[in-house]
Amino acid sequence: MSSFSLALDQPLLLKESDFIGKGNERACYTNPLNEKLCVKVQKRSHRSQNKIEKYYYTKLKKRKNLSPFISKYYGEVSTNMGEGLVFEKVTDLDGSSSQSIYALLKSKIISEAEAREILRTVFKDLYKNAILLGDVTKDQILLQKTENGYIPKIIDGLGTRRYGLKLFLVSNFKSFARFKLVKRWKTLEHALGI
Ligand SMILES: Nc1ncnc2c1ncn2[C@@H]1O[C@H](COP(=O)(O)OP(=O)(O)OP(=O)(O)O)[C@@H](O)[C@H]1O
Ligand SMILES: [Mg+2]
Repeated sequence: MSSFSLALDQPLLLKESDFIGKGNERACYTNPLNEKLCVKVQKRSHRSQNKIEKYYYTKLKKRKNLSPFISKYYGEVSTNMGEGLVFEKVTDLDGSSSQSIYALLKSKIISEAEAREILRTVFKDLYKNAILLGDVTKDQILLQKTENGYIPKIIDGLGTRRYGLKLFLVSNFKSFARFKLVKRWKTLEHALGI
């Protein structure tokens, strides 16, 4: 699937009607060629989150057992809004955008105990696979509603907050990634208020 960009002579045309949401740095659009995928383009270049993620996800893809709790990465694509990264689009059964664990917690759709249990599961998996969630935000873990309950999916914040030596170290030294993950997880729990 990552090769579809090669088939295009023209950059992928992202339209406002494809817009899903935006953060501080990036805007996310449904991929007009495949509604199960989304494309993230950088709004401002100062922190280069796409550059960080491109490096880190490419490293992670080379490992065998990638976490099921990460929105899948499909590579880069040229778009009318600049270089984009292609990911699995996280939606519920009915096709609507999945909500974040924080939003579901705040609206009391899930309890604190359920949220803690879900976080525990995600943490154990990231720890086992030595994957760092380094840029902590409240809305980076979506809960995808399925017939069998919620599946947590990380959509943002993997790797480090800056592109530099630390990113190289967490990508190549599992014990360093685990050490940083434990510290960042406390920040995440604090941000979620649990
Ligand atoms: N894989 C995905 N599936 C569905 N929606 C997504 C996905 N990734 C991002 N989004 C939507 O796009 C929004 C912005 O994406 P993202 O959080 O990656 O941007 P960001 O600029 O990195 O955010 P931040 O400023 O918090 O770092 C999200 O809040 C979410 O609504
Ligand atoms: Mg981000």
